Amino acid sequence: MTKFIPDVHFPQSRPRRNRRDDFTRRLVRESAVSVDDFIYPVFIREGKNVREAVDSMPGVYRYSPDQLLAVAEECVKLGIPVLSLFPSIEPEKKCPQGLEAANPDGLVPRTVALLKKEFPELGVLTDVALDPYTSHGQDGIIDENGYVLNEPTVAVLCKQALTQAQAGVDIIAPSDMMDGRVAAIRNILDENHFIDARIMAYSAKYASAFYGPFRDAVGSAANLGQSDKASYQMDPANRLEAVREVAADIREGADMVMVKPGMPYLDIVREVKDAFGMPTFVYQVSGEYAMLKAAAQNGWLDHDKVMMESLLAFKRAGADGILTYFAIEAAKWMQANQ
Ligand code: PBG
Repeated sequence: MTKFIPDVHFPQSRPRRNRRDDFTRRLVRESAVSVDDFIYPVFIREGKNVREAVDSMPGVYRYSPDQLLAVAEECVKLGIPVLSLFPSIEPEKKCPQGLEAANPDGLVPRTVALLKKEFPELGVLTDVALDPYTSHGQDGIIDENGYVLNEPTVAVLCKQALTQAQAGVDIIAPSDMMDGRVAAIRNILDENHFIDARIMAYSAKYASAFYGPFRDAVGSAANLGQSDKASYQMDPANRLEAVREVAADIREGADMVMVKPGMPYLDIVREVKDAFGMPTFVYQVSGEYAMLKAAAQNGWLDHDKVMMESLLAFKRAGADGILTYFAIEAAKWMQANQ
């Protein structure tokens, strides 16, 4: 038998050489995911000994504060730097103005204080927005037509942020998309000597249908009904506007900026990182988590592979950190496989 010699020109460049072996693939790899990149979002609710499943988010629960301590301990052990808190508030505590958001004895401030007492080395982040607290499910105060009013909302957000700072939170994350809220919150924090409380601004936050499962988890979906958040969250069609939003938040004093959602908005992550070089975060939101989980549960996708690939894509796009419901699973996977 004669040796098979293909009748082709040998290519000058062979990118496949660097892909041939695991050692060269590792050597030329451009991005990596680390546990240091993770912020783990958790849902909390009143009670004792409660761990309630969120149906649309397999593996995600609403924890009572005592039960959350075990989750916090796991984060510390795995090296996850920050936990972010999202409350599910009882309907009787909701009102049109969302006043419970600024209650110093409310669920969030109490949980922050508990976490900082038990695990001082674990970073705690809290969301600033009124949607878990309003009877209509909007992120702010509305007029008779349901339009969210900017200044009255910012006034309550400032009280909410101050309450969180007084409870000892490390990072305050306004997710409301009101104009001027970062400057207003920075001012009230500084006036009250919380000069080190960091602000991570949800700067480019889009009016996305991928937040659906989150709204189930915090119980705002039913209140919101058919109304949407398009008058304050960004139009998914816009890219340049995202750059302007981020620029405004940086001018107003944001220490870190965020793009949200994640996977459908990787172009925005790259754009923001290149334009400003700020610590840039991305939120892999509830709907992104739900769709990967659902496909994996059906056996249509390989769970661990798509989880890690999706996280790596954020790093490749320029994100410095990722808010992800996969944080604990991914941290465990990395410990076992790297
Ligand atoms: C509150 C808030 C939302 C999310 C984070 N903070 C929901 C919304 O804006 O409607 C969504 C997070 C997720 O979907 O995982 N404003």
